[in-house]
Amino acid sequence: MKILVLNGPNLNLLGIREPALYGKADYRALVARVKAHAKDKGVKVKIRQSNYEGDLVTAIQKARGRYDGLILNAAAYTHTSVAILDALKGVGLPTVEVHLTDIAQREEFRHLSYVSLYTPHLVKGEGIDGYLHAMDILIDLIGQLK
Ligand code: DQA
Repeated sequence: MKILVLNGPNLNLLGIREPALYGKADYRALVARVKAHAKDKGVKVKIRQSNYEGDLVTAIQKARGRYDGLILNAAAYTHTSVAILDALKGVGLPTVEVHLTDIAQREEFRHLSYVSLYTPHLVKGEGIDGYLHAMDILIDLIGQLK
């Protein structure tokens, strides 16, 4: 089983960026925890981050046929990107949306998620642990499809 974890803009600033909201652990710590969890679960994982919407769209397109599922934190593009929604619909891979914070409890402009218009599977407000939780959900989802 191969899983792609895609992270959107500013997530590379973890640890520096608004630590009261996003925590003190940095992006390298997130990557290490995701990789360790994948190893424990016996799945292959690739983790990518981009600040560019088009890169994320291309990564979703290229995931078709290469990965069994996606874990996606589109960050700010969650709330704006019809292009990411269209790419998800176009490719049709099982996807779990993840957010470090609880977007439903934050500013109103964060309440709309275009990613949620594609997938009902959402983990929010669990910090980095949420990525591990999302991976468990995705592994179950992919298992049900096989
Ligand atoms: C985020 C929430 C988004 O609203 C925000 O723009 C981010 C991070 C989260 O992980 O909590 O960049 O996706």
